[in-house]
Amino acid sequence: MDELRSILRTGTAREHARLDGAIGAGPLDRPEHYRRFLAMHGSVLPTLERRLEAAGIGALLPDWHERRRRMALAADLAALGISVIGDEAVDLGPDETSPAAIAGAAYVLEGSRLGGRVLRKTLPDDDRPAPTAFLDHGIGKPLWPTFVDRLATLDLDDAAADRAVLAARGVFAAYERAFQRAARPVAAFAGA
Ligand code: HEM
Repeated sequence: MDELRSILRTGTAREHARLDGAIGAGPLDRPEHYRRFLAMHGSVLPTLERRLEAAGIGALLPDWHERRRRMALAADLAALGISVIGDEAVDLGPDETSPAAIAGAAYVLEGSRLGGRVLRKTLPDDDRPAPTAFLDHGIGKPLWPTFVDRLATLDLDDAAADRAVLAARGVFAAYERAFQRAARPVAAFAGA
């Protein structure tokens, strides 16, 4: 069987391209776009992190406490006065506490750091720099390579790998909806 990471990458390539296309449509050097980006994460990441913790992600990733980013995200949202409209439902498939579903969901969360690094570079360096605790989280630590190494140790059969892809797609889908939904309050706030 192919390595789980490549199964996940191939299985979510379309979803990633769609999200990347939507977010990438406005560079983060526009304040309202940065707000929308953070609001999008705010509707998905905190609740999903808690859910994965309840499902036992600590067994998959013993260093999970170093990976979770909801505190950093909350700090940025608070600094910008952004209130998140609500949680986006995330469909992790039929067995959300299975190692496969947890791995698939964690793949999307951990992978979002990579795009974050790209986006971080588009933030302007001005007199009043934007708060970047979230985008800067984990810089200097090999969180992605160690995550990929951990995925490689999982012994999943084909059906379980399919469940991992299903969970990963569910997370991407929630992000896509959250990004669309985040347009409204952010625009409203910008005009207030
Ligand atoms: C405009 C927004 C985004 C851009 C420009 C972007 C860009 C990228 C790039 C360049 C990589 C590959 C990095 C590398 O291999 O070193 C990557 C990987 C990845 N991104 Fe994004 N990304 C964006 C948003 C997101 C978001 C919001 C998520 C999740 C919610 C996400 C999930 C992933 C995942 C899971 C990977 C790992 C793919 C793999 O297995 O190689 N990305 N992204």
